[in-house]
Amino acid sequence: MVESPSKPVQELASNGGEPPERYIYRGSDGIAPSFPLLEVPVVDLSCFASSSPLADQELDKMQMAISSCGCFQAINHGMSNSFLEQVRDVGKTFFALPTEEKQKYSRAVDDTEGYGNDSVLSENQTLDWSDRLYLIVNPEDQRKLKLWPKNPESFRDVLHEYTMKLKILTERVLKAMAVSLNLEENCFFYQYGEEASMIARYNFYPPCPRPDLILGVKPHADGSAITFLLQDKEVEGLQVLKDDQWFNVPIVPHALLINVGDQAEIMSNGMFKSPMHRVVTNSERERMTLAVFCMPEADIEIGPVEELVTEERPRMYKKIKNFVSLYFQNYQHGKRPIDTVKL
Ligand code: OGA
Ligand code: NI
Repeated sequence: MVESPSKPVQELASNGGEPPERYIYRGSDGIAPSFPLLEVPVVDLSCFASSSPLADQELDKMQMAISSCGCFQAINHGMSNSFLEQVRDVGKTFFALPTEEKQKYSRAVDDTEGYGNDSVLSENQTLDWSDRLYLIVNPEDQRKLKLWPKNPESFRDVLHEYTMKLKILTERVLKAMAVSLNLEENCFFYQYGEEASMIARYNFYPPCPRPDLILGVKPHADGSAITFLLQDKEVEGLQVLKDDQWFNVPIVPHALLINVGDQAEIMSNGMFKSPMHRVVTNSERERMTLAVFCMPEADIEIGPVEELVTEERPRMYKKIKNFVSLYFQNYQHGKRPIDTVKL
């Protein structure tokens, strides 16, 4: 059963008082008072665009990063700092609007797209301490413009431009991922398709009165092929699980954090790791991020690239179409969606 969406977390936060029970995280991994910092390699993406003498070194670095912690910090991605500031600003301005104004873009109860928060699917589901704005940005003809804020005025143009930039980077990164394993450069990109779907999710995390008990986002791995995360400029919160331990992901100025999603793990036959990650809250400051999930076209069947299936490394995953729908069926039930396609 799907209940109506709950109150914006932003309102709960501004009302003060004890947060509702449903937000208390009961996972066995717990929220410790402090965490070690993850060393996330910084990769220069401009090396992959041309035949740079540094390309091999950067490819190795990226390959090692996505085979271990599942993410890297991308710099020289071709977007100016002031443009990234705009991308953040339009989101911040939107979340700062009065609730009634934001609710013009509310998601429908049975939909994922629009302004809102967790779909409430069961009574004992733990809710995330965050509000979101979730929009399909590619293919362009699938955009639901009525859910795209008109306020601030530049929102649509800025998000459109950001999407176009990430489209180019996705192709570049997927090709680099193939080359880094000495494979033909298009082997992942072919499975991804020319008209892949991209979903943008602005995440807004209000200050939380009980960061010791409540998470901004529960542990999950992304259902994408790859995800681009534009982090908050100042406030940390993202954590990645590595060797069964949670690590804080540092903020690298001007970088985009790129992480492997389940579908790139599948295509790479497990060579690349789709990392479990979560978001912790803090009691002092709000935080805003923008995640863009880049997903293969739903009609294309994806599966491990044949060259990566060997005697020493048998096929780990089934072939599958429309992984995203399977992802959503499993996600709220606490199962890892990728486990359902493991052989
Ligand atoms: C996500 C996500 C991390 C963050 O949106 O899937 O993991 O730091 N976001 O907001
Ligand atoms: Ni995520």
